[in-house]
Amino acid sequence: MPVSADSWSRLAAAANSVSDRSILALMDAERAGAFSVSALGMLFDYSKTNLDAGTRDMLVAMLDEAGLAERRDAMFGGAAINDTEGRAVLHTALRNLSGKPVMVDGQDVMPEVLATLDRMDAFAADVREGRFTGQGGAITDVVNIGIGGSDLGPAMAVQALSPYADGPRCHFVSNVDGAHIHDILSGLNPETTLVIVASKTFTTIETMTNAETARDWMAEKVSDPAAQFAALSTAADKTAAFGIDESRVFGFEDWVGGRYSMWGPIGLSLMIAVGPDDFRAFLQGAEAMDTHFREAAPLDNMAVVLALVGVWHNQGCGYATRAVLPYEQRLARLPAYLQQLEMESNGKRVGMDGQPLPCDSGPVVWGEPGTNGQHAFYQLIHQGTRVIPCEFMVGRRGHEPELAHQHRLLVANCLAQSEALMVGRDLDEARAKVAGQFEGEELERQASHRVFPGNRPSTTLVYDQLTPAVLGQIVALYEHRVFVEGVLLGINSYDQWGVELGKELAKALDPVVAGEAGTEGKDASTAGLVAFIRA
Ligand code: F6P
Repeated sequence: MPVSADSWSRLAAAANSVSDRSILALMDAERAGAFSVSALGMLFDYSKTNLDAGTRDMLVAMLDEAGLAERRDAMFGGAAINDTEGRAVLHTALRNLSGKPVMVDGQDVMPEVLATLDRMDAFAADVREGRFTGQGGAITDVVNIGIGGSDLGPAMAVQALSPYADGPRCHFVSNVDGAHIHDILSGLNPETTLVIVASKTFTTIETMTNAETARDWMAEKVSDPAAQFAALSTAADKTAAFGIDESRVFGFEDWVGGRYSMWGPIGLSLMIAVGPDDFRAFLQGAEAMDTHFREAAPLDNMAVVLALVGVWHNQGCGYATRAVLPYEQRLARLPAYLQQLEMESNGKRVGMDGQPLPCDSGPVVWGEPGTNGQHAFYQLIHQGTRVIPCEFMVGRRGHEPELAHQHRLLVANCLAQSEALMVGRDLDEARAKVAGQFEGEELERQASHRVFPGNRPSTTLVYDQLTPAVLGQIVALYEHRVFVEGVLLGINSYDQWGVELGKELAKALDPVVAGEAGTEGKDASTAGLVAFIRA
């Protein structure tokens, strides 16, 4: 059952009634403990928000109204909860290392999942240990060609886990802009390169175009280029038509959504980079988060609480965006990864029943690693007129013990930002800061520029160290957060019809841009742009 319009109105009214309330005034000695969750060695602190126990209870009641527990069981149980495409949603099966049966249409999918994982292990080990070679010998470089979910996950994770990478170098080509593949291939030796074509559908125009370009590039130096290609896809007929031998095709089922697919074959580049053991540790981290999500009570459940805070800020308080701010340079691609995960999943205008939502859809998600963001856009977060809830994350330890003093500074910066956002600086303090430099009206003018309104909400996730298991936990945490928010909104988080119109129009415009078709029927703006480009 979707949450009723009345409940959404009550939530908005609650947000309205506390919009001026001071977070700092709520911050008594108990609050940090009462408004935080620990699980799997991580701490999620949401005490620097203006949520109170009453509103939190209201949100928990909305979970019951939406039938979260039943929806969760339905997802893990293989029901076709992606009901515009008639598909189950079982990325969790890809990390179900326990092998406990997961039934889809009366059939246990786990034997196939685990067999594919074993095949990936064997192939990754062959590549890493030089048993699988290119024409010129051992593979030195792997190029993953894919886009969206077939790129962002492995690209993000290979960078995140670089301290564990001891295999061939991995590169990622996604954009149809020829500059992307050109710049990556131009530094590589085709005779020692493995190309992985990653595409769930094996029809995505960007990926197939880049795959052909890579094949042509390789054919210039390699007598059998197809032998240095592997494919990750649900479409075995299409990978065969492309000429990739089935021994190097790693398949998966349509119950794995593209943006949820890095746990299976789409993660092959990551597995080659870090090795099968660390890849399995990554899966184990996610599996542990799955168990936590299934078993913990709502307020002890990190994913549920993360979702409640998200809904409070977005649909309740009306904050249209949220910033994800990892204080971990190696998580530089996490915001982009989460943009797809959250915005492709929950950017929907109608509920399951096809009726318009009674509230806003999911938020705009954006971010950059700290401390870089501090010297770029934090100005607006601190002093701009709009409130932007911030989701900070930081590890207790880095991977460079010799640079522990830099890690300390990183942590201090992270904590300082959430403190500054909450505490702010009032006019008296601002005056005191510049009293020695200015006086009279100029003192007042200068002081007003130095005021920080404060009372700006943020959350902080602290983990021990960004190991493969911890990365798995974090990504699975956000996946389940998206699920819970989607259940509250009553939407299908697992389709993406909103990407189709642009794809169709691009296909139709290609011959127009080439000059092979006219602009008849196009609006004046589009026709004018085509004319300018053609000229
Ligand atoms: O166009 C959106 C999308 O379908 C994403 O959902 C997906 O991750 C991406 O394109 C790539 O799709 P594929 O893996 O089928 O090439």
